[in-house]
Amino acid sequence: MTSGPGIRPRRLRSTPAMRRLVAETRIHPAQLVLPVFVREGIAEPAPIASMPGVMQHDLDGLRRVIGEAAEAGLGGVMLFGVPETKDAIGCGASDEHGILNVATRVAVEEAGDALVVQTDLCLDEFTDHGHCGVLDSAGRVDNDTTLERYREMALAQAASGSQLLGLSGMMDGQVAAVRDALDAEGYSDTAILAYSAKYASAFYGPFREAVDSSLQGDRKTYQQDPANRREGLREALLDLAEGADIVMVKPAMSYLDVLSDVADASDVPVWAYQVSGEYSMIEAAAANGWIDRERAIEESIVGILRAGADTVLTYWAVELARSLR
Ligand code: PBG
Repeated sequence: MTSGPGIRPRRLRSTPAMRRLVAETRIHPAQLVLPVFVREGIAEPAPIASMPGVMQHDLDGLRRVIGEAAEAGLGGVMLFGVPETKDAIGCGASDEHGILNVATRVAVEEAGDALVVQTDLCLDEFTDHGHCGVLDSAGRVDNDTTLERYREMALAQAASGSQLLGLSGMMDGQVAAVRDALDAEGYSDTAILAYSAKYASAFYGPFREAVDSSLQGDRKTYQQDPANRREGLREALLDLAEGADIVMVKPAMSYLDVLSDVADASDVPVWAYQVSGEYSMIEAAAANGWIDRERAIEESIVGILRAGADTVLTYWAVELARSLR
């Protein structure tokens, strides 16, 4: 029987306890990862105007955030470095004294066994032109020269104690190149999170302020076209073949179809990144009184998990994890 007076789906929605009992998707703090910005040369945390509630941290601020993240039971933190000086090839990214590598050692020490410390492996925060790779003489992002830099970055991050390298640059062959470099130097336990399906998105807007990006133009020759669904799965399958330990889709909310495709096909964990613009839109609407902030946050993340993500990177990770307790 598919319809009729006896068929009443509303029975299972009748009370809060009943709804809780039959919920198909639950959020657990261990499924949440907090992105953290660490800025060189500041003495106290600096607010990011386009991301109300999110800070650029100094190293003491980083220690505090790591403590909060561990206390809240998060799965981990993803570190981004904001250097004082930038150059054409992003030297600071592979320098052991570069801000990201310094911050990683601090975070690893502070986190102990409570959190997985992860690092963004990309050149855009470190290059004066703001691109995710090295430019050739015509000003185009050179794929294979960039892979050499990624290999150097990977070794510096692994040496600093990062346990999971977040490859967000969208160069072809980056997973294989980094895996090879790590294994050759004995870092076979350092894992790779591949930002496999990363789209050239307007929703990264606020992040550009968060990392003081110097980008002119766009990233459309390496990040994916938002129009393409099949290509997102293709990128994920390539990264799996190259040895990715985890694959990710980014942004999250406008790409739930791609996330679902990847989740169906992947034999490793599938993550999603709820990016800066997704955060700021909800914060801005809530600040205007147009939306119920807490409900919108939870609904946005339940939706991402329901579509197939095992874990979500979100700027609300600590707040949401606390509210689940
Ligand atoms: C690149 C990188 C970006 C983000 C994470 N890693 C920016 C970009 O590709 O332009 C965006 C994250 C966000 O918007 O929250 N290193």
